[in-house]
Amino acid sequence: MRIKDFGINEIFDSRGNSTIEVGIAVGNGLAFYSSLPAGKSRGSEEAAVLPFAAASSAANRKRLGAITNRDFKTQRSFDEFLIALDGTKNKRKLGGNVMLGLSMSFARGLAAEKREEVWEFLQEEFFGASGGAAVWEPVIFSNLVNGGEHAANNLDIQEYMVLAGTKGGVKSAVKKLIAFYGALGERLSSLKRAANIAVGDEGGYSLDFKNNLEPLAILADLIREKKFSGSFRLGMDAAANGFFSDGKYRFDGKTVTTGNLAAIYERYFKKIPALYSIEDPFAERDVSGFSLLSETLQDKIVVGDDLTVTNRELIGKYAGEGIIGGVIVKPNQAGTVTEAAEALREARDRGIKAIVSHRSGETDDVFIIHLAKAARAYGVKIGAPVRERIFKFNELLRIV
Ligand code: PGA
Ligand code: ZN
Repeated sequence: MRIKDFGINEIFDSRGNSTIEVGIAVGNGLAFYSSLPAGKSRGSEEAAVLPFAAASSAANRKRLGAITNRDFKTQRSFDEFLIALDGTKNKRKLGGNVMLGLSMSFARGLAAEKREEVWEFLQEEFFGASGGAAVWEPVIFSNLVNGGEHAANNLDIQEYMVLAGTKGGVKSAVKKLIAFYGALGERLSSLKRAANIAVGDEGGYSLDFKNNLEPLAILADLIREKKFSGSFRLGMDAAANGFFSDGKYRFDGKTVTTGNLAAIYERYFKKIPALYSIEDPFAERDVSGFSLLSETLQDKIVVGDDLTVTNRELIGKYAGEGIIGGVIVKPNQAGTVTEAAEALREARDRGIKAIVSHRSGETDDVFIIHLAKAARAYGVKIGAPVRERIFKFNELLRIV
């Protein structure tokens, strides 16, 4: 496919922050667009994000001009060209956001050229077509209580998620989640005697709790009462970079060591049997914490996000060491579709669970749902089933 022209537009994400939309024109009047989400609790090794002004500067447009009027036959060859053109480790020259926008738009263009759905094209390109039309029953990681950097409340933990199984169909799981989200709102209103409860960046409820354990206990009780125990489990994203400094953690108002924090999490898992997963329980530099906790969890998983930043080598290393049982895959941490797909393949080859994820600042772009389906990922992490987050749920309804 030949790119005739490209464009970078400024748009706004779900927080009202500036982000970009990247389009490519491929002739015959055809153009493909992709927009870029933004993270707030970012891993230090993520691909660089250029603000709109730098992304669309004359100098960057000149550099990017090299992609036009050249024939790229595959997604990989296009992405490798971009990576070489950028030439930096963290994609700071062209911008990881610009590169991913071009890369996703290119995938959309190639899929259209082949008259295929984006997920079909990605599956053939990266995951072997053998999966074909086989059923995909992703677990939906839905963030219902927000804390940490995503909410103005007293929770250190960033996300309390319901993990909804879809064996009975995606529609029935989404309906259950929506009903549960409503019931949780009512429960929190009555428990906290608050008529209006704010929501955080991902649509989950945001209010003060007694401590970091209380939301889990409330969620577990409500799951039991609603008789959803068969299809709902619980997960947390501690995003512990956010409460780590000088080698210690600030948790529930106390300063604690790595060992203390591991013991606290172990207690959570014992108290709340429905709790299945914990993402970034320790800071990305505190690898010792991940191994300490992984040793004590048997049928539960520790998930890497800031730790692994959608990087194939890091995923391979930590999965190989047995310190993660799951991994978050965010294409914009990597900066090209090929690298995100490689991260997913690495997770599959290592036998750990891959969860394809949105960011806390989102757009209406649903590409990640197609990538998740192409890879038959274990899960999709897409926020509460409301507001701008609902676009990803709706795409699941369309393509699963
Ligand atoms: P972010 O957080 O999108 O704000 O970086 C999401 C996460 O930590 O999983
Ligand atoms: Zn995370």
